[in-house]
Amino acid sequence: MEHGYDLVVIGGGPGGYVAAIRASQLGMNVACVEMRGTLGGTCLNVGCIPSKHLLHASHAFHEAKHGFAKLGVVTKGVALDLNQMMSSKNEVVSGLTQGIEFLFKKNKVDYVQGRGEILGPGKVKVALDKGERILDTKHILIATGSESTPLPGVEVDEKKIVTSTGALELKKVPKKLVVIGGGVIGLEMGVVWRRLGAEVEVIEFLDKILPTMDAELSKTMQRILKKQGFSFRLGTKVTGAETTRSGVNLTVEPAKGGKAEQVEADVVLVSIGRRPYTRGLGLEKVGVETDRGKIKINSHYQTNVAGIWAIGDVVDGPMLAHKAEDEGVVAVELMSGQASHIDYDCIPSVVYTDPEVASVGRTEEELKAQGLDYKVGKFPFQANSRARASGGGDGFVKILADSDTDQVLGAHIIGPDAGTLIAEIALGMEFGASSEDIARTCHAHPTLNEAVKEAALAVEGRQIHA
Ligand code: FAD
Ligand code: NAI
Repeated sequence: MEHGYDLVVIGGGPGGYVAAIRASQLGMNVACVEMRGTLGGTCLNVGCIPSKHLLHASHAFHEAKHGFAKLGVVTKGVALDLNQMMSSKNEVVSGLTQGIEFLFKKNKVDYVQGRGEILGPGKVKVALDKGERILDTKHILIATGSESTPLPGVEVDEKKIVTSTGALELKKVPKKLVVIGGGVIGLEMGVVWRRLGAEVEVIEFLDKILPTMDAELSKTMQRILKKQGFSFRLGTKVTGAETTRSGVNLTVEPAKGGKAEQVEADVVLVSIGRRPYTRGLGLEKVGVETDRGKIKINSHYQTNVAGIWAIGDVVDGPMLAHKAEDEGVVAVELMSGQASHIDYDCIPSVVYTDPEVASVGRTEEELKAQGLDYKVGKFPFQANSRARASGGGDGFVKILADSDTDQVLGAHIIGPDAGTLIAEIALGMEFGASSEDIARTCHAHPTLNEAVKEAALAVEGRQIHA
């Protein structure tokens, strides 16, 4: 038995590694247990980072092939070296994951490589390559993340039928990629392979893509993706898949029932959501309660068992890296006796397609359902000089403000750099900003952020440039 940890974190993803570093800053003696062989979790290894690198690289390829000529930049013989693109991605991933090992050393966090199992409050067994270690600790923080949700009848082999992990590793550009699930992963990975030359068809169970986002965003996104060559089958379910020598035959039918049809693909991506990962953690033995797979916690991230805490994808809420990170920080601050909290109304979410889609706060549909009176300010990027000068005019900024108090309740952007622009509004919302506060803040010219200011002005019909 090894004594003396204040905290053992199980899982070295954005939730776990950030919690471990923050806990060490607070003076705790911390270990982080990770079984993957590298730190950084889903996000750095097979999620946020490799997908964003492929989005970046495929964008560069597509621009060189189709975008440069208009700008007077003449290119000849632009060709794809997919192997090099994948190596470049792997280099970025390994640089960043090793960076976290460095941060652990700097912050004196013990990195324990192996699979963690909770034996009881204060006891974690780690299965090592050879043998095991038993860690003795005051607190345990579960940050074991999530995995791709399987679709019955569509067996993943990570070659022809892939999850996002396989879609980040394809050896050649498929002639036709069918994406099951028109959510974030489906659209981001679909965009990568579309830009590299694949025909992409999205099959979505509901009657719209990005179904949790503001309806106007999802409608605009679908229109823009159609222009980019995507095709869509909405309100459709996949009932079976047969792998053939050349590809995959899918059987689909209307979600409400009806005549079945066959859809052929070279590669099928299953991206119908993710589910919490708690296999082998010992939760049942220890008596930690779950609800539909998610670990149940109170507002302080404590499970029902004293000394055991949980954060990130394994608990309720949006499955986002920044949400996991912030929960990690707040959980260990609470653990150490500090006051700390997260405003869940101010967590931005971004889809890194081109154009990007970004949201914070409530959608129009949510405000209507809650019976709240609100005002809408909308401004198109067509009327923003910087967007026009940089070749991107699709999309808009939409700000929703309370009719009585003018407090910003939500914002939804589709357009260039939407993911960066949303931060300004999230910050404003954290401070309880009104649309007037944003409208009266001086914004540099010419910037994309001026579209945010104009949308804030538009809440009272005072926009200047549209
Ligand atoms: P994870 O990152 O999943 O980390 C959990 C870690 O725990 C894993 O490394 C796992 O190996 C380890 N583990 C599990 N069980 C044990 C055990 N018993 N013992 C030891 N170790 C264990 N989010 C964004 O915000 N922005 C994005 O752009 C984005 N892009 C994404 C793209 C893709 C393709 C995917 C799949 C996800 C993306 N996400 C994105 C979501 C993001 O990756 C997750 O929300 C985030 O990683 C969750 O962090 P976490 O720490 O809770 O869990
Ligand atoms: P998702 O929840 O975003 O989308 C899943 C989609 O599949 C939904 O539109 C849903 O209606 C549909 N669907 C569900 N069952 C279906 C079925 N049987 N047939 C057809 N369609 C079906 O999940 P996704 O895309 O798998 O991503 C998982 C999570 O990973 C996201 O929720 C997000 O939190 C995170 N992520 C975040 C990214 C970002 O922040 N940019 C990028 C990628 C992933």
